[in-house]
Amino acid sequence: MADEVRKLVAQYFQLVDPPQLDIPPGNVLLRPTVQETLYERMFDESLTPLPPAAYRTRVLKLVIARIEESITDPEVDELNDNLMDALGMLVAQPKANSLELAQKLSHVKYTAPLQSSSTKNREVTTIESRGLILSGGTTGKRTWEAALHLGSFLASSAGEALVRGKRVIELGAGTGFLSLFCAHHLGVQSVVSSDREPVLIENMRECVRFNHRGDGPFPFYPAFWDWGTPLEKTQELESFVDEDDLRFDVALGADLTYDTDIIPPLLSTVRDLFENYHVEEFIISVTLRSEKTFQTFLDGCESNSFNIELLPFESTPSEEQTGFFHSTSIPIKTYRILKAA
Ligand SMILES: C[S@@+](CC[C@H](N)C(=O)[O-])C[C@H]1O[C@@H](n2cnc3c(N)ncnc32)[C@H](O)[C@@H]1O
Repeated sequence: MADEVRKLVAQYFQLVDPPQLDIPPGNVLLRPTVQETLYERMFDESLTPLPPAAYRTRVLKLVIARIEESITDPEVDELNDNLMDALGMLVAQPKANSLELAQKLSHVKYTAPLQSSSTKNREVTTIESRGLILSGGTTGKRTWEAALHLGSFLASSAGEALVRGKRVIELGAGTGFLSLFCAHHLGVQSVVSSDREPVLIENMRECVRFNHRGDGPFPFYPAFWDWGTPLEKTQELESFVDEDDLRFDVALGADLTYDTDIIPPLLSTVRDLFENYHVEEFIISVTLRSEKTFQTFLDGCESNSFNIELLPFESTPSEEQTGFFHSTSIPIKTYRILKAA
């Protein structure tokens, strides 16, 4: 598959906003094999799970418009019949209203950035609600930029080395995106994906069947953890460890410092992880929206005598990203936090 086509397919299954999609140029789109590939990989109704119909319609209209404007010789250049039929079927479907669309849960498939050493796609599927405010839900019902940033780091060989073969725990995991990536593609010994919202834990459980298609074990364990209180033992946790020997090597977190009120309980749980669960390092990615809130986090690390170090991983500019697509308009940084020596 041409690189341009691979990128569009990956962005489409991640439900990237249509105006941000990289639609291949006309000379690529005019190739009959490219149009057939787009149909087979994106719009064939037998693919599951497909993006919501309203999203598919918007994208297909954009693709067809780009093909039509590129046609210079109608005798030679053609528009694929399957693409036209797919559009006909989509526009004939009854339309959901905007409130229904906002509340609907969708499957979102994320593709990791390409690594020079491999051409294999590494994919993670989550269940998300993008109409967060309208659905009155928790902030964890969608995957945030900081998680995609940290996922991009973990997809690199330096990042993977931090978790491969390790017992990992994630705090405030939301959709479970990072933990699912660790379980599916990064060779962790185990990953406990924790959050305080029961609805998110149910979502994570449901996600397993979309990510674990083989017969072997899938070392992914959803768990309830409301920071500042003890870790609750879900049925999954009880099945994998002796309760007295619950320990981890590394903790992960993304976008957990967005409000000054949640920072003290977060740091208390990090201290708990260091003191009672044998954790050696906490890797956290932070979207730097507010200097004041971030300073509260730094001050809290200092008063706990944690050592904090900035990891030298920079966001790839949006237009150069090959996977885990996300905006870089607000800076995102990743830190390693170690307990006091
Ligand atoms: C902004 S979301 C980030 C979700 C995910 N890490 C990501 O980056 O996509 C914050 C997450 O922290 C969780 N959270 C907030 N306060 C919490 C607390 N006191 N205990 C446990 N989880 C909490 C929320 O439920 C939510 O899933």
